[in-house]
Amino acid sequence: MRRKLAAGNWKMNGDASLLGELAQLAGQQSDTGPEILICPPHTLLAHAVSVTDGSPVGIGGQDCHAAETGAHTGDVSAPMIAATGAQAVIVGHSERRTDHHETNADVRAKVKAAWAAGLTAILCIGESEDERMGDSTLEIIADQLHASAPDGTTGDNTVIAYEPIWAIGTGRVPTLEQIIETHDMLRDELVGRFGPEAMTIRLLYGGSVKPNNAADIFTADNVDGALVGGASLAAADFQPIIDALAAS
Ligand code: 13P
Repeated sequence: MRRKLAAGNWKMNGDASLLGELAQLAGQQSDTGPEILICPPHTLLAHAVSVTDGSPVGIGGQDCHAAETGAHTGDVSAPMIAATGAQAVIVGHSERRTDHHETNADVRAKVKAAWAAGLTAILCIGESEDERMGDSTLEIIADQLHASAPDGTTGDNTVIAYEPIWAIGTGRVPTLEQIIETHDMLRDELVGRFGPEAMTIRLLYGGSVKPNNAADIFTADNVDGALVGGASLAAADFQPIIDALAAS
C-alpha cells in the first residue's frame, strides 16, 4: 500500500567524483524495487539529475527557502530546486533547525513552498538526547509533527522522517522497540489529524542506518524506509540498505 523509500542525504559532502557513485547506483536498480532518492548538495543537483536520467533513482534538495524569489543571499528556493529536475526536498532537518535556528513555523512554511513548486517534502523531526533521557520523546516529536506539517499533508506531497538527533552520525540507534513505539505513535497522530488517507504517508527512520542494522529496522510495520546520511555516500554501502528494504 505504501511504496518503500530509500532516501540518501549527502549533507555537505560530494564533488564531481561522487557522481560516479551515483551513476553506479542508478545503473544497478530495477524498476520493481523500492523508490530511491538521493539528496546531494545544491551545487550538484543538475549534474545528479542528468547522471540518473532514465533510471529509477530520483533526486532531491536538502533545504529550500520559504519564498519563491527575493533578497536572500545564499539561499535557494523550491522553484529553483524543481527547475533542476529534482522532485523532492528535505525540510526541517535537525542540522538546519540547530545551525540555522529554524523553528517549526519556518519548517511549515518551507513544506508549503515545496508543495507549491511541485516537490515532495521530506519533513524531518526528532528528539535530542536530553529529551529522550527525560522521557519526553513522544510528546516532543508529536508537537514537532503537528507544528511542522501543514494542513493538506498527504502521502503524495509529504514523507515524514523520524531522526533522533542523538542517533545521527553517532553509530547509536534506538532499540527496535523504541523505533516501533515512535513510528506507531506518529502513524496514529497522522491518522487522527488527516484521517484514513494518512495511512498512505510514508514514515522513514533516520540516524546511523547501516547495512548491518537496516534489515532489523525495516521489520517495523510503520517504518516505510530510511533517510540515510553517511552510508548513502558509497553505492557499496547504500545498495545493501536498498536490498534490505526490498526484502522487508
Ligand atoms: P547518518 O545516517 O549519517 O547518521 O545521518 C542521518 C541523517 O541525518 C540523514 O538525514
